[in-house]
Amino acid sequence: MPADPCILVIFGAAGDLTKRLLMPSLLNLATDGLLPERMAVVGLGREELTHESFRDRMTADVKRFATRAPFDAQRWSSLASRLHFIRGGFEDPLAYQALAALIARLDREHETQGNVLVYMATPPSVFGEIAKNIHLSGLMGRETGWTRLIVEKPFGHDLASAMALNESMRRDWSEDQLFRVDHYLGKETVQNLLAFRFANGIYEPLWNNRHIDHVQLTVAESVTVEGRGGYYDKTGVLRDMIQNHMLQMLAYLCMEPPASLRADAVRNEKAKVLEAIRIMKPEDVARDAVRGQYGPGTKPDGTPVAAYRLEAGVDPESSTETYAALRLFLDNPRWEGVPFYLRSGKALWKRGTEIVVAFRKPPELVFGENPAGALDDNKLIFHIQPEQGIEFRFLAKVPGPAMALQKVNMRFDYRDAFEAQRGTGYEVMLYSCMTGDATLFSRSDLVEAAWRIAQPILDVWDAAPPDDFPNYPAGSWGPKAASDMLARDGREWVEIVNRDLLERVPIFQNATPSFLRKVALTLQPVACGDGDAIVTKGDVGNEMYFVCRGQVEVLDGSKRLNVLGPGDHFGELALLHARPRNASVRAIGPCDIFALSKTDFLQALGDHPGMAASIHEIARSRYGIDGEL
Ligand code: BG6
Repeated sequence: MPADPCILVIFGAAGDLTKRLLMPSLLNLATDGLLPERMAVVGLGREELTHESFRDRMTADVKRFATRAPFDAQRWSSLASRLHFIRGGFEDPLAYQALAALIARLDREHETQGNVLVYMATPPSVFGEIAKNIHLSGLMGRETGWTRLIVEKPFGHDLASAMALNESMRRDWSEDQLFRVDHYLGKETVQNLLAFRFANGIYEPLWNNRHIDHVQLTVAESVTVEGRGGYYDKTGVLRDMIQNHMLQMLAYLCMEPPASLRADAVRNEKAKVLEAIRIMKPEDVARDAVRGQYGPGTKPDGTPVAAYRLEAGVDPESSTETYAALRLFLDNPRWEGVPFYLRSGKALWKRGTEIVVAFRKPPELVFGENPAGALDDNKLIFHIQPEQGIEFRFLAKVPGPAMALQKVNMRFDYRDAFEAQRGTGYEVMLYSCMTGDATLFSRSDLVEAAWRIAQPILDVWDAAPPDDFPNYPAGSWGPKAASDMLARDGREWVEIVNRDLLERVPIFQNATPSFLRKVALTLQPVACGDGDAIVTKGDVGNEMYFVCRGQVEVLDGSKRLNVLGPGDHFGELALLHARPRNASVRAIGPCDIFALSKTDFLQALGDHPGMAASIHEIARSRYGIDGEL
């Protein structure tokens, strides 16, 4: 159903957000029949633009950033004819007068019933000023219709500034007029956390500390700060990703069932979760919070990456963290004692947002005497992005006379289940504001509760600048201290290996997605200390390896032949034939690697007979190995 008629006013309309996300989203909403027929858009900014040149500029931009093909020129031209521009500064009373006059005219022309939606696509420093000036301009004093204000992130720089911003906005606006955006809540896979938990009966009885051992949330980015150094250096990952996006996801994952899906019913339950998160004392921070900053390294494709401190806009002695990992506890009956491990960082070796719910292991009684090996915990994995789906990992008996166990999985993949048209993620945010549904937006108490969790960590970090930055190379898994934090609890991060990694290995180049998924599941993490031998020349090998973190050296006696780093692999010949290794490989410093055993590889091949021919061919043409698999 189309949203309510309205005028959308965008402050900062000539900026990045408008062209990359807002305009393509409006076009998608129009295509899906969700944009009201009776609507107009007014952009406001300092740029020398007229209505016409603004339309031309948006038209050129939307052709670049539209998410759906083919580009719907007809629908866009109808939308473009309703775009307008006012030139002015955010502090300039004349600009607000001009805005009020234009809104009055457009309201009559388009019969928008007095409804005005204001989007602040501006730097956060002017949020308060715009909100106040709109109020002073009398824009909100219309007799009919609603006025709503969309506020982009970041909402405040710390607890004190967030509280001050909330207070100043609430002087002129009521809470139900304020829509604070957290674009993670616009992601389908994040919204699906609610559907998964509350529309299915089998999980709720398991969703507590009796059955769940711990939870891991990872938001890994392979990008660096990419030209946003000036902003990022004052921000850091704790503010940029954890205080907002990750705590919002955690709230969905942990909240009690809401009485309904009404905005306040959902937000009340989220607020209770955030308020139950134990606030760290200064002495907890050293144990339960890890920070990191990337130094020079390489991208997954091998291109060099400069250290964070060399980025434009970044202080050459910056103490800003580009990586953080936390261990949090929720003090409520459902979650008491369950650790929640959160980590996020830039310049990591892969992009991936995942939530891993690790269940308690069964008693070893039944399988204790069995050669099947130690039991593994069941894991429920929410793949948020770029893979989108849900996976359940469990153990199954390997076919054959012996009782051997192997990890297997069941998987729901969005691409298989739904034929959704691609969007930007902002469609649902705009549509929700136009229909007055605040479910996906943060309330003032939620924002403040999230800052209350982050603040003591920021305080301790500010007071004691790190002496080991940079402490992880670009392209790695982040600082070792993050692994140590889990190792102290007898746990390790679950590294989700995706197909991209395996596709880099020549013998897997033509492999089918299901074969690669199967192989990815069987990879075993191996942690090595400095100087550890991983492969020894002359031994008959049974595994190939992928380097995740750190570096290894390839040696012939004492002669170094090569150095391999994150994303590299070695030893693949062992999968193809049983001959002695022709070089040794040793860890240089601590490193994390994955091993793929020949047994698992052959088993995967057995399950995918179609793959065998292609691997034989690669083995023959690339390595001159015939018929030995
Ligand atoms: C933004 C952060 O909020 O989220 C960026 O400011 C980050 O630094 C981005 O890259 C990540 O969003 P997504 O949707 O790509 O995961």
